[in-house]
Amino acid sequence: MKTKSILRKIFLGVLGCVLSMSIHAQSLNTFHIIPEPVSIKSKTGVFVLQPQTCIVAENKNAAQVAKMLAEMLNTPTGYSIAVQQKKIAGTQSIISLYVNETQDKEIGKEGYILRVTAKHITIRANDPKGLFYAVQTIFQMLPPDAASPVAIKNMQWTIPCADITDYPRFGWRGLMLDVSRHFFPKAFVKRYIDQMARYKFNVFHMHLSDDQGWRIEIKGLPRLTEVGAWRVPRQGSWWSFLPPQPGEKADFGGFYTQEDIKEIIAYARERHIDILPEIDVPGHSLAAIAAYPYLSATQYITNVNPGSRFYNIEDNTLNPADERVYSFLDTVFTQIAGLFPFRYIHIGGDECTKLFWRKSAKVQNFMKQNGVKTEEELQSYFIKRLEKILQAKGKQLIGWDEILEGGLAEDATVMSWRGMEGGIKSAKMGHHVVMTPASYAYLDLYQGDPLVEPETYSTLRLKHCYDFEPVPEGVTPDLILGGQGNLWTESVPHGRQAEYMTWPRAFALSEVFWSPREKHNWQSFITRTEKNFEYLNKSKTLYARSMYDAIITGAKGPDDSLKVKLATEIDGLDIYYTFDGTNPDPFQNKYQGQPLEVPKGASQIRVRTYRGDLPVGQQINFPLKELSNRLEK
Ligand code: ACM
Repeated sequence: MKTKSILRKIFLGVLGCVLSMSIHAQSLNTFHIIPEPVSIKSKTGVFVLQPQTCIVAENKNAAQVAKMLAEMLNTPTGYSIAVQQKKIAGTQSIISLYVNETQDKEIGKEGYILRVTAKHITIRANDPKGLFYAVQTIFQMLPPDAASPVAIKNMQWTIPCADITDYPRFGWRGLMLDVSRHFFPKAFVKRYIDQMARYKFNVFHMHLSDDQGWRIEIKGLPRLTEVGAWRVPRQGSWWSFLPPQPGEKADFGGFYTQEDIKEIIAYARERHIDILPEIDVPGHSLAAIAAYPYLSATQYITNVNPGSRFYNIEDNTLNPADERVYSFLDTVFTQIAGLFPFRYIHIGGDECTKLFWRKSAKVQNFMKQNGVKTEEELQSYFIKRLEKILQAKGKQLIGWDEILEGGLAEDATVMSWRGMEGGIKSAKMGHHVVMTPASYAYLDLYQGDPLVEPETYSTLRLKHCYDFEPVPEGVTPDLILGGQGNLWTESVPHGRQAEYMTWPRAFALSEVFWSPREKHNWQSFITRTEKNFEYLNKSKTLYARSMYDAIITGAKGPDDSLKVKLATEIDGLDIYYTFDGTNPDPFQNKYQGQPLEVPKGASQIRVRTYRGDLPVGQQINFPLKELSNRLEK
């Protein structure tokens, strides 16, 4: 009897271990949520969505999110799940949404508590924002077919049982789209907002003006959109486009009417996204100058730049010595302030060449008369006047980190893009900061090998995005509002390419901005990214598969010979190569980790990654004469 009971204990112990291991494994496989929630307690069982499932908005302010949840579920399932105010007696399958009457301190304004049992899903939050984020989490707990824009028949729609508590690390989780260098129509902007919302971003920064296009209707300044929104069409390499030719029609571009803007703001608001408008001054202003040439001090320019060389050749700066410029800005920012409910307005401030201010007698005179010693101080004078205009409209100024030069405006918030330094300096002066360093957060850079990527410049791989830490050491964390990914669109001619450049790097940024630092895990992130690709496939969202491509670098051997080093960004891939001009296949020449000697006479290495027998990366044909340019530092 005794031995039996000991054996039973051992058996039960082993069984327990096996079970808990398998539940753990199941929880790892079942949940692939990006950004990773603060806490997931996996439970056995699933909630099965049914045509009879009922959504209950327990309080009035839960109704809007409840309606969005119903739409989210009804589209792919073809069900007609309705929102009720109260549970109907006898209902077996319920999703309830509550906004807490007493605030739960742990989850803050944007957090939520989500409990899924076999019969009942409950969502609690302090604010509809939290309910909205819980709904996004539920979306990723459904199968990828949930992303289908059309109903799929005969599917079992399950949501795994779990208790999830979740809230964001940062209050500013942004993405910027440059709608100036290329114009993106309203329908695409809404689609982009939908995609952002899925990954819990909450600020959409629209870069509405630049040298290549003015994109927002301003009443009383019709030439901004009659002239400033249009340029000559060009293809090829940005900065080497042919300048406008005499008599050539400028018919490429577009703009948002104020009604369009109101519609976009309302759309974003329903998805708990604030829109940050940017009018980039005093540099980057050629489009405005083409519309109203009096805005510049030195030249009379009448063409919007199409992406041809102009920097320090054409004067793209506003004249800070001319009162008409401030009255122009007052008109523009009064309307911007009236349209956009967000408390911040972005005034740009970046990359303002000082060359033309130095050349202009008027500007130099103005500086003398006003005791302004340097052109940097002059820019600071300009920004401070702008801050007064914004403050009069109840708005707060935010600008790129160049606004530090010559003295920072009193209440300015700084967007740090030239590394983290501008942000660190601003925070040490007690200013708020949004971290968007180019080296971690610029989505316009190459994400894989330039030989197989659409043309752009520099490189920012997914892994590097994932390594972004927005709070530098020695800085008061509360002053770092959060971070933002920026998609400049010189080399992004349409919406499909905007998606390609955004995903999956914006997955990485969403996790950086939302999830606790200790929850970051590259391996788990990649597993979840691959699962999320299935959702993007269903919604026909384009994304980059660059993380599957090989990384080719040069290495010097002990005898100073140049060797080829191959690597992958993610684990679990094999690399195959050839030097003889044939295409690699998975049955010969597997890379073993040691740098490869270049065989005599070879001019090219061809490389491809495989998972088992299946190719997963693109084939890269690398000219070996380039190897010395790729030596690891
Ligand atoms: C910037 O990239 N010029 C802000």
